[in-house]
Amino acid sequence: MKFGYFDDLRKEYVINTPRTPYPWINYLGNQGFFSLISNTAGGYSFYMDARLRRITRYRYNNVPLDMGGRYFYINDNGTVWNPGWSPVKTELDEYECRHGMGYTIIKGKKNGLKAEVTFFVPQNYDGEVQQVVLTNESTEAKSFSIFSIAEWCLWDAQDDCTNFQRNFSTGRVEIEGSTIYHVTEYRDRRNHYAFYTVNDEIDGYDTDRDAFLGSIYNGWDNPETVKADKPSNSFADGWSPVASHYKKVTLAPGESKTLIYILGYAENPQDKKFASEKPEGLLTRETWVLNKEKAYAMIDKYNTPEKVAAGLDELKTTWNKLLSIFKVDTPDDKVNRMVNIWNQYQCMVTFNLSRSASYFESGIGRGMGFRDSNQDILGFVHQIPERARERLIDIASTQLSDGGCYHQYQPLTKKGNADIGGDFSDDPLWMILSVAAYIKETGDWGILDANVPFDDDPDGKHTMLEHLDVSFYHIVNNLGPHGLPLAMRADWNDCINLSCFSDTPGESFQTYTNPKFKAEGGYSKVAESAFVAALFTYTGPAYVGILEHLGKADEAAKAQAEIDKMKKNTMESAFDGDWFIRAYDANGEKMGSKECEEGKIFIEPQGFAVMSEIGKDVGADIKTLNSIDKYLNCEFGLVLNNPAYTKYYIQYGEISTYPGGYKENAGIFTHNNAWIICAEAYAGRGDKAFEYYSKIAPAFTEETSDIHKTEPYVYGQMIGGKDAKNFGQGKNSWLTGTAAWNMVAISQYILGVKPEFDGLRVDPSIPAAWDGFTATRQFRGDTYEITIKNPDHVNKGVKSLTVDGAAVDGCIVPVAGDGKTHKVEVVLG
Ligand code: GLC
Ligand code: GLC
Repeated sequence: MKFGYFDDLRKEYVINTPRTPYPWINYLGNQGFFSLISNTAGGYSFYMDARLRRITRYRYNNVPLDMGGRYFYINDNGTVWNPGWSPVKTELDEYECRHGMGYTIIKGKKNGLKAEVTFFVPQNYDGEVQQVVLTNESTEAKSFSIFSIAEWCLWDAQDDCTNFQRNFSTGRVEIEGSTIYHVTEYRDRRNHYAFYTVNDEIDGYDTDRDAFLGSIYNGWDNPETVKADKPSNSFADGWSPVASHYKKVTLAPGESKTLIYILGYAENPQDKKFASEKPEGLLTRETWVLNKEKAYAMIDKYNTPEKVAAGLDELKTTWNKLLSIFKVDTPDDKVNRMVNIWNQYQCMVTFNLSRSASYFESGIGRGMGFRDSNQDILGFVHQIPERARERLIDIASTQLSDGGCYHQYQPLTKKGNADIGGDFSDDPLWMILSVAAYIKETGDWGILDANVPFDDDPDGKHTMLEHLDVSFYHIVNNLGPHGLPLAMRADWNDCINLSCFSDTPGESFQTYTNPKFKAEGGYSKVAESAFVAALFTYTGPAYVGILEHLGKADEAAKAQAEIDKMKKNTMESAFDGDWFIRAYDANGEKMGSKECEEGKIFIEPQGFAVMSEIGKDVGADIKTLNSIDKYLNCEFGLVLNNPAYTKYYIQYGEISTYPGGYKENAGIFTHNNAWIICAEAYAGRGDKAFEYYSKIAPAFTEETSDIHKTEPYVYGQMIGGKDAKNFGQGKNSWLTGTAAWNMVAISQYILGVKPEFDGLRVDPSIPAAWDGFTATRQFRGDTYEITIKNPDHVNKGVKSLTVDGAAVDGCIVPVAGDGKTHKVEVVLG
């Protein structure tokens, strides 16, 4: 069952009922100001950091789930309704929500009155523009009123939802004309404020939430002022400040009126915080006056429909440009839709927000993850490489000089999060991968010389290359009894915690270490990760390639020897006959082996081991891939492990606490499905790669949206596995490494267009049934128009490759570097 459809021409997903199985959301903003917006206009806004600089409030674990946001209420002669149906939920005569690239349009119609609201955050602008077009489509004149509402968060979202004894007394506002300013704590310790305005005279307002609702017993579905068609002109004094505008409108038949609301954020320099005079008509209870110059300028920027149209055009142009860097035309519309539009769009969102703020991530829990953000870059780097570069430097600056990493950092402070700490064994490797991806995309070798400090030596002069060195050797220097990397607190799978042995409620599996390992430095020196071993052998060659390019032959050879040794150790101690084991636990027992009672096979190490060609000479790669197909493949994707754990295995940590089929205990973790898709494509099995791709790619699951539940235009992190009661049900949509990795899987492995240090590799691994496809790739200033022909209907194998008609050996298109368009023709066979 579907709840809408793709409008590919407009790059929109069109939702045609407000009753989606879960709120289906979109993200507005891609620089500093961000909003989440659901198909019923729920959500919230923040600046830079969803925890530390929250602008509007959101209630966690709420019932109903999607309640609170910015709403418009219309009172049309006693009938009260919202253009997005919620919160009043008056049945609408027409409803539609269009989620596009950085904007959302919600349309509602009731009793001949149509309200179309366009929400977007313009480029280089710290505010959300909401354009409301009201049209009287009836045959009679209509007089009605419209109320807006936004509830302020008192800036720190964590504090806002806990520290009521203080916060109920601090709220402050100012009102000037049609603009309501939120200035809580401004006088003392903050230099930022927010405002909500409309480009017309208003007929009343409210700034106190309980006054707007009329009673503390009312919810957003039942505001007294709206029902009574009478604002209370309340002035907030502590409690919960809000901003609501009241406007009366009369429209002749066929007539329209446009109102433009702006929810904005601004910062003032310390010496310009206050205005010297109190203007006539300003409503305030303070003896000081906010300097509003920035707000005035922001309001002026979008106070007419023409300016709004220009802002929206600019946003669309930006996106069209971003999406023209890589474009494909394959025989499958769903592939085209994912690659050309939605997967790339999601990559921008995950790049921006890591795992911080979604309808599954509260925005107060985590900042930017070290491993997460590095992986996000893999899918995003071609879009805006300069931003990827900046991010790489920020992330690397939180690294420690021994190669260890803070697992997370706050985007506002850019400091490592000491509560979570470090010692996640995989973290450093992802940085090698992301820096290499950046260089491969841009050819900017200069990044290696960039001055990047270490967290424990903030003033020292260090280069990015040093960060790569210590990252690589952090693995080499922390090996266990089998010569495999120590597992430490966790190793990508946050729920495999081999040093925990936790038996007390409330202990965090990621940060709690059993006292028995304290003396050993915090984690077991026996527990080893076969996954990190495989990730090391997959990632290592990029590091070697960098050293070779720099002419550091000795260091390259030394690093290569470590990779070779790791491959040997992995084959000797971690190959289980038909697949690779997952780990050795702290007792030195195998995890993820056929010897185990449950959890005999895990997905994570396999893909990277196959792509590293560990044991390829004895057929380990194909055996491994066949085992995955046999034990992990099911209708909705590949489960993470099998059989699911049915008991609590204290030696494994969090993983076995989940009911079978959910999350890391045999759920379909789409993120690592991508690694197998890559591996199948790498091994030349394009049909299998495509089968796995199409099981989890959202455009393919659209038809079963009732089962899948989450948005059909973006990946979720998880789908209920075959052991789950809710088999096939998605969770944790939007902020997942799946976005980047599946972009890599489809573009670089299946379609096979892959940046390398010395050119653009074109080596597809596609379904044999395809006659071929075409692609356009902008790369280092040139444009490549690529045509793939598959006359023999093979999966993989470049028979010939020409660039502008001239034959090229192998499958790497050399960098032309002339800024021109080049024709690349590849014949498979
Ligand atoms: C709050 C605090 C308390 C303090 C009082 C006065 O009630 O919990 O510790 O004494 O405020 O500041
Ligand atoms: C979540 C985390 C990611 C981790 C994964 C598996 O997606 O953000 O860092 O690798 O879960 O546990």
